Amino acid sequence: MELIDGKSVSEELKKNIQQEVSNWIASGGKKPHLCAILVGDDGASHTYVAAKIKDCEAIGFTSSLFRFDSQVTEEKLLSTIIEINQNPDIDGLIVQLPLPGHISVDRVTQTIAPEKDVDGFHPQNVGRLSIGLPTYVSATPFGIIKLMEYYGIETAGKHCVVLGRSNIVGTPASILMSRNAYPGNATVTICHSKTKDLEKYTLQADIIIAAIGIPEFLKAHMVKPGTVVIDVGITRIEDSSKKAGFRLVGDVDFAAVAPLCSYITPVPGGVGPMTRIGLLTNTLKSARKEIYTTN
Ligand code: GUN
Repeated sequence: MELIDGKSVSEELKKNIQQEVSNWIASGGKKPHLCAILVGDDGASHTYVAAKIKDCEAIGFTSSLFRFDSQVTEEKLLSTIIEINQNPDIDGLIVQLPLPGHISVDRVTQTIAPEKDVDGFHPQNVGRLSIGLPTYVSATPFGIIKLMEYYGIETAGKHCVVLGRSNIVGTPASILMSRNAYPGNATVTICHSKTKDLEKYTLQADIIIAAIGIPEFLKAHMVKPGTVVIDVGITRIEDSSKKAGFRLVGDVDFAAVAPLCSYITPVPGGVGPMTRIGLLTNTLKSARKEIYTTN
């Protein structure tokens, strides 16, 4: 079994991007600028946004942050997004999810200009992904694909079972794994909450992408020997023995499943750190106008 070290791969890729950014700026390019919007007081969201801003500073981007309390109206949020869309200095805009229940995630996503949608959530960017056009690949599917590429994991002709069909992970990951490219060319099955006899599928899988949001869902009896397991889950479980008061658990029963695998990602330190690389990559692409050549 080989442990996929997302932390060290992400550090290496971050250095590469940093070099690309300095080359771009040295050749007269504009400093990439990522803008984040954070609504409310969700602890995990604060941590994620702070990490994204820190990455921007470390890598030579400009960053800005708009913060709103959880009572902010949808109208105010949408008008702020429209202002940012029109600001030529800002290359990428993300609105951290989840949002309070009175705000429509769909309306927010669709208000962000597709050319600044570095999260890759806008329907136009998802549509481009699904027909193989250049696009912003969203952070988590990007991280999954890059890890497979880095480790040279064979995917062509393999059976990839994706657990979960969310817009931000399961669905785009399934599209990427089935496209005619590397990593890709896999035969893909998507399992979800209505799938019957789920282990019938996971037992046939050469690659399992677990993005179902249920801690330690994937058990040893559901995995055949030699499988590649990518664990996208990340749930905070109360743990008074930890300084933070919690520990992080994935969607895979790691202790029992890992000995069966050819490769497996740990949680934390697997897919998680790679997601931040996706966002930086997309913001640099936006600054260089690589996806949408005319804004
Ligand atoms: N919440 C959890 N993951 C993400 C992400 O990739 N982007 C945004 N905007 N919010 C998230």
